[in-house]
Amino acid sequence: MSRNIIRTSAGAPWKDNENSMTAGRNGPVLLQDYQLLEKLAHQNRERIPERTVHAKGSGAYGKLTVTRDISRYTCAEIFSEVGKSTEVFMRFSTVAGEMGAADAERDVRGWAMKFYTGDGNWDLVGNNTPVFFIRDPIKFPDFIHTQKRHPRTNLRSNTAMWDFWSHSPESLHQLAILFSDRGLPRGFRHMNGYGSHTYSFWNAKGERFWVKFHFKTQQGHAYYTNQEAAEVVGRTRESSQEDLYNAIERGDFPRWTFSVQIMEESEAEKVGFNPFDVTKVWPHGQFPLIEVGELELNRNPDNYFAEVEQASFSPSNTVPGISVSPDRMLQGRLFAYADAHRYRVGTHYEMLPVNRPRVEVRNYHKDGRMRFDAPDIGDGGYYEPNSFGGPVDDPTAKEPPLRVHGDAGWYDHRVGYDDYSQAGALFRMFDEGQRERFFSNIADAMTGVPEEIVTRQLGHFAKADPAWAEGVRQERARRAQAGKFS
Ligand code: NDP
Ligand code: HEM
Repeated sequence: MSRNIIRTSAGAPWKDNENSMTAGRNGPVLLQDYQLLEKLAHQNRERIPERTVHAKGSGAYGKLTVTRDISRYTCAEIFSEVGKSTEVFMRFSTVAGEMGAADAERDVRGWAMKFYTGDGNWDLVGNNTPVFFIRDPIKFPDFIHTQKRHPRTNLRSNTAMWDFWSHSPESLHQLAILFSDRGLPRGFRHMNGYGSHTYSFWNAKGERFWVKFHFKTQQGHAYYTNQEAAEVVGRTRESSQEDLYNAIERGDFPRWTFSVQIMEESEAEKVGFNPFDVTKVWPHGQFPLIEVGELELNRNPDNYFAEVEQASFSPSNTVPGISVSPDRMLQGRLFAYADAHRYRVGTHYEMLPVNRPRVEVRNYHKDGRMRFDAPDIGDGGYYEPNSFGGPVDDPTAKEPPLRVHGDAGWYDHRVGYDDYSQAGALFRMFDEGQRERFFSNIADAMTGVPEEIVTRQLGHFAKADPAWAEGVRQERARRAQAGKFS
């Protein structure tokens, strides 16, 4: 058995990790103490860029178990048998805060899943909300700038947020969720998860279906009020990490019921709304939830950096039987994530253990930084086509053709959409207590925002429901009277 000694990165025994080599007992260190240099140099490289969004997060492993046969909708290997379990790695996050931000902040929560299926990795990268703030990917950088720090003050800016939202009525539905109780969940175990976008399924007969993914918490919904959260943040900035990690360590595994909504391919043109608009849900009454499985998280990662920080999720990771849709936000995301991973983690991020598929990978990508094993192409060629038995296409992985039509152009994405009805429907579901907290949360977030912007936003609230605008107006007036803000 080898002795438990420190070795250099090159494998040589390290003689002294307490003392640098010096010229005499009280003299300066010597440049030739290469291990000192090596140690300092390594420390300088301990960080990688944090995610530009969703920088603060927590991860865990678990499994998805299928409870219903849905092979009539999809030929995906993960759904091939009732009772089948597939390993999953999940990362939860807040969106706006940096890596050291407090967990108990009012924000959307990220819901990123990597299923290690027998046909490669399927990543479902959603949120704890069924909708999103914008519907055109070209607005994403602008939107995120309003969530991050002001370039001059280096402070977050309520003005920027409400300015953007009040110019973007498609954000109203998501705002209704953000400022409701569900906008500040009491940890990740107590919230639902959604794929949010419309995706597609295709079956063995080559028929396509549109699909939405839902995960409903079995722990029950629980939230903090703004006041409670302020107290929690004063105590710990890691409340969600502690809650998830400790629950899994004590064997209290969190679980979610996994359901889908299904739309026939041809139905999309007849439903009377754009089913590919991520700012809207498909009403449950029209498209009922079909329960298909159970998600359980049951193992904490051993190393946060290696497994959680370097985890790289992308909506472009689809597998045969599951694919994307004409949702233009989703299309923007198909580019953005892998690009972010190459920058943030490195060219061969997919080869790291947490990202690596559990199936053998054979392709013709070659070399590059940190290529730490040879591509396994057996005796075959290193180019394609070749005469030497290299890997070949799998025509069974081809999804059915999708008809697209239209004249190419820049169309106003705010024309022809009803951005008020669904936001209003959600507002009308809130009971009196929920409404009071809702108005108060909005008033908190509007602190310091110029009147012109508030007025524009109140106009949107009123179109969704006059009582919504009135409630916020009264709450603001009450505070102004009490001298809380102008
Ligand atoms: P239903 O009336 O059938 O169900 C209402 C849904 O709202 C339930 O899924 C419930 O979740 C969810 N909900 C309750 N409170 C909140 C909240 N504060 N934030 C977010 N969701 C909440 O819904 P419809 O399909 O007829 O749609 C009505 C409205 O419900 C929509 O406009 C939308 O805002 C919201 N909603 C709809 C969803 C959908 O996929 N159709 C999904 C989530 C919300 P739970 O069952 O976990 O309590
Ligand atoms: C993270 C881009 C919309 C959910 C990220 C990252 C980028 C990004 C660049 C960081 C990735 C990384 O460094 O690993 C975009 C763009 C969008 C968009 C360009 C719109 C065009 C959305 C939407 C959702 C979402 C609509 C949810 C429905 C997430 C989640 C993460 C994330 C959960 C964190 C993933 C993780 O845990 O590693 N996004 N995003 N994003 N995004 Fe988006």
